Order: sequence, then structure tokens, then C-alpha cells
Amino acid sequence: MNGALARDMLGDLEAVLDQVPVIPVLVIDNADDAVPVARALAAGGIPIAEVTLRTPAAPDAIAAIAENVPEVLVGAGTVLSGDQVDTARSAGAQFVVSPGLSEAVVTACEVAAIPLIPGVATASEVQRAWNLGIRTLKFFPAVQAGGTATISALASVFRKVRFVPTGGVTAENLTEFLKLASVVACGGSWLAPANIVNAGDYAAITRRAEEALAIAAAVEA
Ligand code: 3PG
Repeated sequence: MNGALARDMLGDLEAVLDQVPVIPVLVIDNADDAVPVARALAAGGIPIAEVTLRTPAAPDAIAAIAENVPEVLVGAGTVLSGDQVDTARSAGAQFVVSPGLSEAVVTACEVAAIPLIPGVATASEVQRAWNLGIRTLKFFPAVQAGGTATISALASVFRKVRFVPTGGVTAENLTEFLKLASVVACGGSWLAPANIVNAGDYAAITRRAEEALAIAAAVEA
């Protein structure tokens, strides 16, 4: 990880990313689960959550976390369009994550003054993002797109870009990603997967959060 920051669309998210090595990606089927999941993450030391707009419950889940768990920065993930930026913003999302790079989403986030981490997987996409002034990028799907070898190759060219690898990241491979200076944090669903959320096993979520922080601390040591 590397503390050096470039000008970006991160806003308040920047400070959190400098502190937190992982972004839990949530798929919430029942909005009632959102608050206990966010509290379980916070109890494990992770004050951030990305609720994907893949389920009808997502906007209510974001709103519930924003209203009831102020210690957790809540964002909207899987944001594909400008309209979905508006949905996220109206629900109370404090940041937006996209799987890819869309000018419509970038513009909508600028207009709404909401921080954005767009996704990239190729040099051309990183370059497009660079020319839009964006320096912190989700690298997605991280494992399938070549993992640390691809990130290292991209980082050697795009010196000021910071990557958030997401897709296939788990406790097993978190260390190898966090060891890269260009990686600011990793995203992933392994911290609070849908089966654990649906089972209401909040203690397991807290344990996974603690485990991720311990892995990150070992990388920093
Ligand atoms: C995402 O929305 O970023 C991905 O679904 C996360 O991928 P993962 O489930 O492999 O962590």
C-alpha cells in the first residue's frame, strides 16, 4: 500500500481508504439485514461497506445503514448508469463504485459531488480514466484479469494510479495484493457473503473483518 495521493474524485472516501485495507462488497436481499451487517463489520474494525445495486432491497439497505450506523461509510456498488447514481445518492450513499468505466457515471457523480471508484481491467481503460482525472480505480475482475502481475504491469506505466483490486479476492490471496505499492485497498464479498448474511451469522462477519485487518497489519509490519 502507498499513502501518496493523486487528485481524484474521492472526497471523504480518500481518508477512509488510507485507513482501511478492505471494502466489503455486500449483496443484501433483505434490507433488515443491512444494519446488523454494517454493525458487525464495524465491530470487526471495518467502517466501510459497499452495497451493490443488484437487489431490490439495495436502496433501502443503503438508507438504513446511512441513518442508523453513522460510523460506517456506506456506498453503492454495481452502479451502471447516471440514473443509478441518482438512486444511490437519494438513498444516502456516500460513495459509488462501478464495475467498469462509464463517462455517464463519472459525470453524474461529479454533478452529485459524490466520490466515485470506477472499474478498469485494461491499459486503455486506465488511460481513459487518467484523462478524466481519476487516479483511484477498481481493478475488476482482479483475479480473472491477471491478478498482481497485471496490476504491476499497469502500475509501472500509470505511476500515480492507485488500484482497488476486486473480484476473486479472499483472505487467502489478500496478502499478495496488499503487498503491491499501487494497491490502496481490496474489495470483495468474502467478508460478508450472501449465505452468511442470509443466515444472520453476524459473529462470522466480525471474525472475517478482524482476520482481514490482521492480514493487512502483517503486510504493513
Ligand atoms: C463486485 O461487485 O465487486 C464483485 O462481485 C466482487 O467480487 P467477489 O464476489 O469475487 O468478491
